[in-house]
Amino acid sequence: MKDVKSMFPEAEIKNEELFNWVEKCLLVVPEYFWTMPASTSGKHHLEDNMEGGLVRHTRKSLVSAKELRYVFNFDDSEMDVIYSAIILHDTFRCGVDGQEKKKDGKLCSDRLHPLYPRNGLRKIDPSETIKKEVNLIFKIIEGHMGIWSPIFRLYPMSLKREPIDRSDMMIIFVHICDMVASRESIKVELK
Ligand SMILES: [Fe+2]
Ligand SMILES: [Fe+2]
Repeated sequence: MKDVKSMFPEAEIKNEELFNWVEKCLLVVPEYFWTMPASTSGKHHLEDNMEGGLVRHTRKSLVSAKELRYVFNFDDSEMDVIYSAIILHDTFRCGVDGQEKKKDGKLCSDRLHPLYPRNGLRKIDPSETIKKEVNLIFKIIEGHMGIWSPIFRLYPMSLKREPIDRSDMMIIFVHICDMVASRESIKVELK
């Protein structure tokens, strides 16, 4: 079963509606997400360059978030948004179904992948009560590559201002967790 509990046991999403929304999203993400390695260039995630590696990278990002949440003292409702954003952040890594980016016949990362989930998952309409959270989840995903994000201005630090609100901090935080989970010199273990 490709559901939150069995694929991403590290994510403790307490808000039931949000949990259900993420669950529904996972049913429509591109199939390659579940099987592809974490890195197609071989530059990062050397440990996770195997079948299912991208899911392992996602889980490691969740582990990082769980350990590092105390840096910003994120509360449970903020962590709900963060866990959801992390689960979905790389689901469209190689583009949308039918238009996957390929190099020499093999799937490869699409530089614009942070921008695809908002549109690719729009058919999973969130209820009114979680609309604000879902919008923030997409904002976090769009900025998850930090200064390398496809639209640089989506990343709070690009504006050279202090991270003044919680949502900016959440974007920066997910970017950190993603980096921690992919850098060769940093080890994050899965239990
Ligand atoms: Fe990514
Ligand atoms: Fe990632």
